[in-house]
Amino acid sequence: MAHSLYFIGGGNMVTAIIAAVRRKADQYPVDHIYVEEISQARIDALKADYGVEATTPESAPDADIVLIGVRPQDDVAGVAASVAKRFDPARTTVVSIVAGYTIDKLEDSLGKDFRLVRIIPNTLTTVDYGYSGAALNAKASKEDVDDFLNTFGKVLYVEERLIDVITGFYPPNIVYHFIDAYVDAGVLAGLPRDIARAIALDTLIGGTEFLKQRDVLPQVLLNINNSPGGVGITQAYTLNKTGFAAAIQSAVLAAVERTTALGANAK
Ligand SMILES: NC(=O)c1ccc[n+]([C@@H]2O[C@H](COP(=O)([O-])OP(=O)(O)OC[C@H]3O[C@@H](n4cnc5c(N)ncnc54)[C@H](OP(=O)(O)O)[C@@H]3O)[C@@H](O)[C@H]2O)c1
Repeated sequence: MAHSLYFIGGGNMVTAIIAAVRRKADQYPVDHIYVEEISQARIDALKADYGVEATTPESAPDADIVLIGVRPQDDVAGVAASVAKRFDPARTTVVSIVAGYTIDKLEDSLGKDFRLVRIIPNTLTTVDYGYSGAALNAKASKEDVDDFLNTFGKVLYVEERLIDVITGFYPPNIVYHFIDAYVDAGVLAGLPRDIARAIALDTLIGGTEFLKQRDVLPQVLLNINNSPGGVGITQAYTLNKTGFAAAIQSAVLAAVERTTALGANAK
């Protein structure tokens, strides 16, 4: 059965979701993709690239899913109140991707009749990797959104308290920082940058694949690789001394705290 989707806010994340939905048309067919967006340039691009239909805050077409895709600093409460006026809770499930904005806060404006799902969408939508975290309100069930969410990656249904943790933990930025530092390390040691980059990317993919195949924690492989007095344990000692693990852990904790703070300040 074909679906009908309605997006409010047509920015970067919504564009990535729409692109993924279009790519997965075989497994998740859609009749209509409606987008309500302030910026004319953005809506023109979405129409040209993905054949979406532009709407206004007065529109109320039939929609299986209405997705709130504005930023925390936008008028999220106003958008949710407007959804409550225009759509039918018996027909429509509401999905919010607004970081840090809780189900309770959304229900203050939306009411409690809608099936409501708060998600943190996976940002690796084009490579079929990465998890979206999803939390359901009392009315919603997995079946309301599972097919839709699976168009842009894998889905983890979690308690809402873990959503901010996933938001701070999962973006690939930390991996990009690691690769950047790793490539620079190769250059510092004398490798040409293109060779350092090629080795770094393959080592990261290969190392990850091997860990998945063995189904063990990295410590198991490090115990095998780090022989007494050898190169590996010397490298491990240097990383420990420079606070490598603490730097990563501090960065993730700070990102989680920032997510919660942004949500608390949202309108
Ligand atoms: N980007 C990510 O990787 C990511 C990941 C997880 C979650 N999120 C969440 O996704 C949401 C969107 O993020 P984004 O990066 O896609 O932001 P973005 O690119 O700035 O997109 C937001 C869009 O919404 C428009 N907008 C604002 N208020 C509106 C309204 N009342 N009606 C219709 N359109 C409105 C904005 O237009 P103007 O610019 O003209 O105001 C802008 O085009 C945020 O809540 C964020 O927390 C993003």
